Order: sequence, then structure tokens, then C-alpha cells
Amino acid sequence: MNGSSLGMRLDPQRPFLGAGLKVAVVGGTSGIGAAFAKEMASKGADVIVMGRTFRDEGPRLTFIKADLSSVESMKAAAAELPAEDLDMLIFTNGILPAKTRVATSDGLEADLAVSYISRFVILRELSERLGTNRPRRPRVFVMGGPGLGEKGNPADLNAENSYSRFLQHGKTVAVNEALVLDAAARFPRLAVFGLNPGLIKTDIRSSITGTGCFFRFTEGVVGYCFPSAEVYAERLVPVLFAPALEKESGFHFNPKADAIKPSKVMTTQLTAKYIEATEALLARLPIKDGEKS
Ligand SMILES: NC(=O)c1ccc[n+]([C@@H]2O[C@H](COP(=O)([O-])OP(=O)(O)OC[C@H]3O[C@@H](n4cnc5c(N)ncnc54)[C@H](OP(=O)(O)O)[C@@H]3O)[C@@H](O)[C@H]2O)c1
Repeated sequence: MNGSSLGMRLDPQRPFLGAGLKVAVVGGTSGIGAAFAKEMASKGADVIVMGRTFRDEGPRLTFIKADLSSVESMKAAAAELPAEDLDMLIFTNGILPAKTRVATSDGLEADLAVSYISRFVILRELSERLGTNRPRRPRVFVMGGPGLGEKGNPADLNAENSYSRFLQHGKTVAVNEALVLDAAARFPRLAVFGLNPGLIKTDIRSSITGTGCFFRFTEGVVGYCFPSAEVYAERLVPVLFAPALEKESGFHFNPKADAIKPSKVMTTQLTAKYIEATEALLARLPIKDGEKS
């Protein structure tokens, strides 16, 4: 990380990349990812959105259907992406953990699978080929809650021994920050950054609140107090497109689009533990019902 990049604010008068960029947004079919995709397309980028349901037909938007809840489908999704021709890969796919542990067909806890393992698998599948036909250093952005100091616990990453929605969410946030730091070090050819959007009104919390009055009230408050996905996208896309990022890697952006340092708690050792735990978990699949790590 170049120290000068911290505190970096972008001069809106400076030119930024846009027209002709090739971007894939995994999780670009809804919420923040969809807002990013539309904003980038409006600036002349060709954007692939990946998810289960396409909702935003429009110029420069292409859809690839993928259900990222099994490792087989994650690998198939990676194979569908035109890795060599991408300038940018953005992960905004995600869900929130359920009240009681939900397991995927592989035996992975569902939030961990969709909001993290899919990103890990896709990035590992594409890392060597990403952007090799493009003139610029390829960029990868990982959305979650990086920089907030979430430590989580790499032990029992898959919540096979005990499950709490709150703790599992903390693990998913922390392990995504570890993914950014590990990928920045492991793949120096790539520029890798974390994105912390803060609170944004989307449908993601409906799995907790339902879609009734409480959901409408909660999201009404979030929508009143915090920027919409569209406003956040207008703020972030110039940063994602900034030529200044060409030589950078391994840090994050806060909701205001300011560059921020990685969490102090996310040391090199903890990052390595999370990545080791991920690799060990993938090597054990499929995990049978009731199996303990
Ligand atoms: N909204 C917030 O306040 C907030 C705060 C902090 C962090 N974040 C993070 O920001 C990211 C985006 O969140 P959001 O609020 O924009 O959520 P969202 O509106 O619910 O969008 C989630 C995206 O993930 C995709 N997705 C979910 N399950 C999938 C599956 N099994 N297979 C393939 N794609 C799947 C959805 O695609 P389909 O709908 O097509 O299935 C959708 O495109 C997440 O990582 C979230 O944790 C959000």
C-alpha cells in the first residue's frame, strides 16, 4: 500500500476511466451491485451482472445467471466469465445469516457460502487469467465491512460446532477483509480493494425482518438517514474508475469513498489463519449433516 493513497480524495475535475471498460459485478442484479452496474454502464463501461434474477435490462448491461450456493455452481459461474477480457471484477453478492444455521448442498453455512466462499472460489479460478487481454492492471473490489475492526474467529468458520447469527455475520465480515489482504499479497498482478458501504437501503435485511411493516419501517429509517444505493454508486464509481488506483492495492474505501487502512486486528497472522481455514474447509467438502470440524 502506498501511504499517499490514504486520505486520497478524488478531484472530480480529473479525468477517469469509464468508456470501454469491461466490468463484471457478481451480485449486480440487485441493491448496491445493480446501482454500481447501472452507474458504470451510464459512464460507457460494458457491464456483466451475475446473479439469480435479472431485473435491469438496459444498454451495456449483460446478464449471466448463476446461483452461487454450491461450489460446483461457483466454479461454473467463474468459467462463464470472460476473465481475460475484464478490467474489473466486483463482488457485491451476499445474504445475511439466518436465525438458525442453514446448510447448502455442500454442507456450508449459507451466508458463508454465498457471501464469501463464492468470492474466494471465483477469484482463485480467475486470478491468473483476469485482464490478461486488457491494457491496464485488473482491479478487484470486495464489498462487506472492511476496516471496521471486525476480528471474527477463524476457528469453526463453517459454524459446525456452534451457531449464532451475530457471530457468523462477524466471521463473514472479517474473512472478506482477509480475502482482500491475502489476494493483494498473493496476486501482485491484481489491484485488490475492500468496499465498506455503511448502511444502504436494499432488500438484504428482509431475510431478518420479513417484507412486512417492520421491514418497511426499518428500511424507511435507513433510507432517510443514509444514502441510497444510487447516491452511493455515484460517489464510488469515480473512485473505482480512478487512474490513481493503477499502482495501489490492499486497502479499503469507507462509505464516503475515502481510502482507509485495513483493520488493526486483521494482522498477517489472522489473515493467514482465515485463508488456511477456507482451504481446509473446501478440502473437506461435501460436509455431512451433523459433522463437526
Ligand atoms: N445494504 C447494506 O446496508 C449493506 C451494509 C454493509 C454491507 N453490505 C454488503 O453489500 C453487499 C451487497 O448488499 P446489498 O445490500 O446490495 O444486497 P442485495 O440487494 O440483497 O443484493 C445481493 C446480491 O447478491 C446476489 N445473491 C444473493 N444470493 C445469491 C445466490 N445464491 N447466488 C447468486 N447471487 C446471489 C443477489 O442476486 P439475486 O437477487 O439475483 O439472487 C443480489 O444481486 C453484500 O455483500 C452486503 O453484505 C450491505
